[in-house]
Amino acid sequence: MSGATAKKRAVSSIPEERKSNTTRTRSWQPYIDAALGFRNHWYPVFFGSELKEGDISPGLGEGAVTEIKTLEILGERILFRRVNGKVCAIEDQCLHKGSPFSVKPECFTKETITCWYHGFTYDLRDGRLKTILTDPKSPLIGKVAIKSYPVEERQGVVFVFVGDLDPPPPLEDDVQPGFLDDSLAVFPEGRTVVAKGNWRMAAENGFDPAHTYIHRNSPLVRAFRLPTVFGDTGLSDSRGMKVIDGPGPKGVVLIRGVGNPVWEAEIDGVKLKARFMPGDEGVNNEMVPEVSIWMPGGLKVDPFPAPGILMFEWYVPVDEDHYRYIMTWGRKASSAEEKDRFFDECTTLWKPLVPTTFTNEDEQAREAIHEFYASKGGWYKERLFGPDVVITRWRELASRVNRGIQQRG
Ligand code: FES
Ligand SMILES: [Fe+2]
Repeated sequence: MSGATAKKRAVSSIPEERKSNTTRTRSWQPYIDAALGFRNHWYPVFFGSELKEGDISPGLGEGAVTEIKTLEILGERILFRRVNGKVCAIEDQCLHKGSPFSVKPECFTKETITCWYHGFTYDLRDGRLKTILTDPKSPLIGKVAIKSYPVEERQGVVFVFVGDLDPPPPLEDDVQPGFLDDSLAVFPEGRTVVAKGNWRMAAENGFDPAHTYIHRNSPLVRAFRLPTVFGDTGLSDSRGMKVIDGPGPKGVVLIRGVGNPVWEAEIDGVKLKARFMPGDEGVNNEMVPEVSIWMPGGLKVDPFPAPGILMFEWYVPVDEDHYRYIMTWGRKASSAEEKDRFFDECTTLWKPLVPTTFTNEDEQAREAIHEFYASKGGWYKERLFGPDVVITRWRELASRVNRGIQQRG
């Protein structure tokens, strides 16, 4: 290889995103730097119903426990276990030589986990080293600890705090307004998947005023005759959107139907129009939802997919190329019967239907643009247009109010 070629190769091997970074910046630069998400925030991780009370290893050599969950969140591997009803979370990495406990998780008592390799044994509730089975008199015992994570289980969802603030800020500041209301019945067996794409592609998709174009032929839209606009234009800080950055949850609200909605378009005389327009026969005019995005990455759609129902989604960073896509639904319920009926409706209708006839289109779109942003300089090459003002307000808000940028450890 000639010297010139070698030099050229070396230069072109610098990822485009980083190369551009040295010469250009954006007013939402912290957001661009947050490929792994924002530190010191609460994140939902799974539904409480997915993790039963911890089982106990029957004895030495008799096998691993099964009631355990290990997940990667913001690039950190975390192990979850339910101890006396309460979900505990610790780093999935032994202090001794770094083995993940999850390779063969062994719990000989309710409150502990023992590393399968040399027997370091930790208290699941605070991560402290309780004993070492192979050296019970070690001076390390009681002196050192692995990282443990604050956990809260609310409305059937398990939230974990990823960060260093002690005590952590209240969970209430990091969830969509209304979600924690006692009067809201939240379906406790929603959907969780790990999807391809960066969490920001996902967060920017749900409240994107022009993205509804991708849903123009959704089976769900057709089945329920939902008026689905191509996009909303004419949005500005004083029209059709609101930035909420006072005390409490912080987010951006898109108020649909206030800007100038686009229902039809034309290409060289060929007319295209939304499948269902307000006023068309059988169209549900109530279904023009208010959509909002909240730090650190939760969406609220009010109402969706039917009047009276709130849809909640979260896009939790897993690593730079994947996010945990969690969704569930809530509605006001004044009696136990009403609540049961709503949960039945979620089980039989919305949980199987929404991800296969509607949000699968969102997942496809997020994944489709991932590479452009991840390795082709998309953050600096994108050509934004009018409706994107809502997205840039979100990026600016996230850049301003985040409690830290997660770095790879
Ligand atoms: S690596 Fe865990 S005890 Fe040695
Ligand atoms: Fe969508």
